[in-house]
Amino acid sequence: MSSNHAYLRMQGISKSFPGVQALKSVDFAVDRGEIHALVGENGAGKSTLMKILTGALLEDEGQIQLENQIVRINSPADAQQLGISMIHQELSLIPALTVGQNIFLGREPRSRTQVFIDWQELYKQAQALLDQLNVKVDSRANVQDLSIAQRQMVEVAKALSFNADLIAMDEPTSSLTDRETEILFQVMRSFKEKGISIIFISHRLEEVFEIADRITVLRDGEWISTNRIEELDVDQVVRMMVGRKLGELYPKDDIQQQEILLQATNLEDGRELRSVDISLKGGEILGIAGLAGAGRTALVETLFGVRPSVKGQIKIMGRVVRIQHPGHAIRLGMGFVPEDRKLQGLFLNMAVRENLVISALPEISRITFVDFSKAENLAREFVEKLKIRTPNLRQLIRNLSGGNQQKVIIARWLTLKPRILILDEPTRGIDVATKVEIHALMNQLAKDGVAVMMVSSDLPEVLGVSDRILVMRAGRIVAEYSRKEATQDKIMHAATSGRENHA
Ligand SMILES: Nc1ncnc2c1ncn2[C@@H]1O[C@H](COP(=O)(O)OP(=O)(O)OP(=O)(O)O)[C@@H](O)[C@H]1O
Ligand SMILES: [Mg+2]
Repeated sequence: MSSNHAYLRMQGISKSFPGVQALKSVDFAVDRGEIHALVGENGAGKSTLMKILTGALLEDEGQIQLENQIVRINSPADAQQLGISMIHQELSLIPALTVGQNIFLGREPRSRTQVFIDWQELYKQAQALLDQLNVKVDSRANVQDLSIAQRQMVEVAKALSFNADLIAMDEPTSSLTDRETEILFQVMRSFKEKGISIIFISHRLEEVFEIADRITVLRDGEWISTNRIEELDVDQVVRMMVGRKLGELYPKDDIQQQEILLQATNLEDGRELRSVDISLKGGEILGIAGLAGAGRTALVETLFGVRPSVKGQIKIMGRVVRIQHPGHAIRLGMGFVPEDRKLQGLFLNMAVRENLVISALPEISRITFVDFSKAENLAREFVEKLKIRTPNLRQLIRNLSGGNQQKVIIARWLTLKPRILILDEPTRGIDVATKVEIHALMNQLAKDGVAVMMVSSDLPEVLGVSDRILVMRAGRIVAEYSRKEATQDKIMHAATSGRENHA
């Protein structure tokens, strides 16, 4: 396995939570200047292991060594002192503060007298970090005005600012597009050249194979394997992750397409969208591709009434409607799985069961009385269907692993049985096995006549799942391809170049 002069060595790490043993005597070692991927299904224990390394959680058992010295990491401050920094799966930025304030929170550069914060210096240093990452973000901008991808890059800049020797990145690419991921990879490679070690967690195995030197697989809290990346292929890794061979990745049935359920013409939100025409049939899965900032989220949010449309017309099942707010869209038979599920969708302090059935409440309640046994059954059905890993239905959402929280949101909309379902990045942060389940569910919905619209930055997913693909750029739809015509190259070309391409 890893040599005696491993930079970091975690040995026999165990950690239990009520009802779950998240880690069972896990060994994990990282060399200096190595990019070490850590993979496993949702709930396998990856984040827990990293939280122990970075002082956010205490292990029950086990030992951590840095350069053969036993170290105690009892707090994030301890970890920082030891040169370990972390990019969290749940972004930890404070929305109301500026980018620069977030990066230097608690260690702001001071004036010579040490009394005042030297704001000019702070923003200058922050900007230099962002520029180094090629991020087009103003260090004086408020974090709340940034896209998720931009926030992610600010997290990277923050980690960079600690001058760490080891950076744990917990799904840093899950909300990045290919191009942004490429920029991050360049940064990671330059870190590596400087001898900085990186632990890289990702559910996108193609990325892992592109960037990692070694790969460690966890399953059900146990260490399964550590290999050099050349020794394995994607299939083998998947098999170790899920403990069995997976079925076909993108099964696709031919579904008879039906009448148009949603049609928008000349739609504008007064900010990002430019005269968007779109139609969606029952039984169809429509993929929306494009780079971050192309207007994909603006489009789906406008359709669902999250933001008002200022121009154009929307027809639902042939009827002209004015969708003023999401409640209205829901009454019209629409469902929407938003991109930023943490902020918009989950009630973190409520239980899995309540989160699951909250949308279906009108169906399972009579006036003011909720039928709890119905709620229980409905919740149980979807926990099983989506393989949501939770000790029981009463578990608080905030205690589920990241991927499992996302499954709860998707399941919640499925309980509503919408006629039109819009999903914004539905499988972000979801492991391969569950991705297959979610795609199968989307197929099943289409088969049942539901019109499905999916925004995704994961091109293989867009190509694999969609019957038809629209590409957006600068608020417009710039290309349309049938499933047969579409290729990764065509989509990338349309998404990035100035030429319009209507096939
Ligand atoms: N604070 C907590 N309280 C209770 N259970 C927890 C807590 N944190 C994590 N768990 C449980 O520990 C297990 C491992 O979770 P962890 O977050 O480490 O998984 P993960 O591999 O990072 O998954 P994902 O890919 O979904 O992010 C899960 O079953 C999770 O529900
Ligand atoms: Mg995690």
